[in-house]
Amino acid sequence: MKTIAGLGDLRGKRVLVRSDLNVPLDGDKNITDDGRIRASVPTIKALAEAGARVVVCAHLGRPKGAPEDKYSLAPVVGRMSELLGQPVAFATDTVGDSAKAVVAGLVDGDVALLENIRFNAGETSKDEGERAEFAGQLAELADAYVSDGFGVVHRKQASVYDIVRLLPSAMGGLVAAEVQVLKRLTEDPARPYAVVLGGAKVADKLAVIENLMKTADRLLIGGGMAFTFLAAEGYEVGSSLLDKDNIETCKGYLARAKESGVEIVLPVDVVAASAFSADADHDVVPADGIPADRMGLDIGPKSAELYASKVRDAKTVFWNGPMGAFEMAPYAAGTLAVAEALVEATSDGALTVVGGGDSAAAVRQLGFTDDQFGHISTGGGASLEYLEGKELPGISILNG
Ligand code: 3PG
Repeated sequence: MKTIAGLGDLRGKRVLVRSDLNVPLDGDKNITDDGRIRASVPTIKALAEAGARVVVCAHLGRPKGAPEDKYSLAPVVGRMSELLGQPVAFATDTVGDSAKAVVAGLVDGDVALLENIRFNAGETSKDEGERAEFAGQLAELADAYVSDGFGVVHRKQASVYDIVRLLPSAMGGLVAAEVQVLKRLTEDPARPYAVVLGGAKVADKLAVIENLMKTADRLLIGGGMAFTFLAAEGYEVGSSLLDKDNIETCKGYLARAKESGVEIVLPVDVVAASAFSADADHDVVPADGIPADRMGLDIGPKSAELYASKVRDAKTVFWNGPMGAFEMAPYAAGTLAVAEALVEATSDGALTVVGGGDSAAAVRQLGFTDDQFGHISTGGGASLEYLEGKELPGISILNG
């Protein structure tokens, strides 16, 4: 593995670091969860302390290859500089005059942040040549490259992938730590191994379910995606989220799970509401009795207790996706119960991993702290793809 130590003496060298600073912002551009900035700081700090001139690049949201004010990284600069304990120079473009001037003005130990790397179409282009050209322009700003944005290692993008071909490169501490933990989930996990999957879209989780049926002992399904599984069991799900195209696939998983002895746990009751709103009428109903005009917005109390019991005595737990619309207080209890059970399992010595930006933000929003869990991953999509057994381009290019 290419490590930062392998880059040699970095004093006076310009080091380009790809971080994942894709943090949620509210309507006034306040950062509502700074977890990814905090996770990015140790590598940046270590490079600055080694005397490098650190040039950080990152994305925010999904702009379409051109500048858009709402996706600017400017709101991140202040928090980054507070956490680093030193000023951060900000370039208002990615590889243009501002970036060149800011990088030229750095002295040893300084840190700069480039504007959203996705403001340049070359970053995410499917055209290899276009990406390589942009990577070339980025490479001119630096003497070495460090890949530390775990949340983007599953993306074949210029600042994650192509750049590695152009500069002496290394894996940053955050990516190395994340990969090490995920390895423990795939290679001989302590058992029972429970996986809790939630979130809205079942389609996003099919590949991971498929692969987890080979390694996990228990799959607990909650959130909007649970209703497609309940429909696969033959239940009416009212106006709940339903992915009709995938009911058959879910049926297949339920049948295979039975044959192979993997436990797939579905809600036995749900909180069913008249509308997607905190003020809507809502009641707890059995999972096989959701009224036609109601939508399930959380797992019910019996399910919460059932899921918690399956998590509490597990020795390895991976969790991705909330159990309900936890942002609204009446539908937060299921997610809270699962988080509490993970905390208990952690203190009983289990390896617990919360996977993903959204799930991480959810546990913090519910009042938990990072140290109550074994590991909070900064990458949702990336950790799921890792568990799917897919090759992650940002990792394989570093190993290649
Ligand atoms: C994330 O939010 O999961 C990462 O920052 C990756 O973002 P992307 O899905 O837009 O590539």
